[in-house]
Amino acid sequence: MFYEVIIPAAGRGTRMKAGKNKLFLTLFDIPLIVYTLRVFDGDPACRRIILPININEKAEFERLIEEYSFQKPIELISGGAERQDSVYNGLQAIEKQEAIVLVHDGARPFIQRNLIAELVKAAAERGSGILAVPVKDTIKKVKDNSVLETVERSSLWAVQTPQAFRISLLKEAHRKARESGLLGTDEASLIENMGLEVSVIEGNYDNIKITTPEDIFFAEAIIRKNK
Ligand code: CTP
Ligand code: MG
Repeated sequence: MFYEVIIPAAGRGTRMKAGKNKLFLTLFDIPLIVYTLRVFDGDPACRRIILPININEKAEFERLIEEYSFQKPIELISGGAERQDSVYNGLQAIEKQEAIVLVHDGARPFIQRNLIAELVKAAAERGSGILAVPVKDTIKKVKDNSVLETVERSSLWAVQTPQAFRISLLKEAHRKARESGLLGTDEASLIENMGLEVSVIEGNYDNIKITTPEDIFFAEAIIRKNK
């Protein structure tokens, strides 16, 4: 089954402290965003790649797309102030209602194609599908450096992307979130807010989001491991 993908890439990478968009940082000399794009470029089920970017970085993205010669066109569109705005803008570029759309962080280069296929299937059958892994750490709520409570770990899962949806459903969720001023850190929370069920598929621990400086070392270790 076919899908279209929105890959938000318009962030500033503040926590990476690299002084530029972290998606241009390299892992073994290849820019991080290139790894992410290659997964979808090489997936026959993916028929469209929409990349919301900071328009000030357009020339840099264009150069990179040319240099790494992808097979599919990569559609650069203007991102927004928040990740959710970038995804919203991406959705505006899609006219179809009944197909499946995936939203995948530009900063997660190690997503595997078999999991993408599972997500697309879940979205087609049940409206949505997201990836998550059981958390390994003990999680506590903390305020002012003091423990408020320990959260029961067995029910805690760390959520990743891609997240897959019927396009009409995600469009409706985004429209409702806009109307009510809800800002979620992922798409699924907007669906949950509508009182709808979200299917969870167990992913794997390789699918990290590159966020802080040490993640660059972890990422290169994952590349080496999977060679
Ligand atoms: N993103 C986006 N538009 C924004 C903010 C984020 O498209 N206004 C994208 C990022 O480029 C990234 C993904 O959303 O691919 C996940 O966001 P995150 O990991 O938080 O990246 P940044 O926002 O760039 O990093 P930070 O929060 O540390 O500034
Ligand atoms: Mg961010």
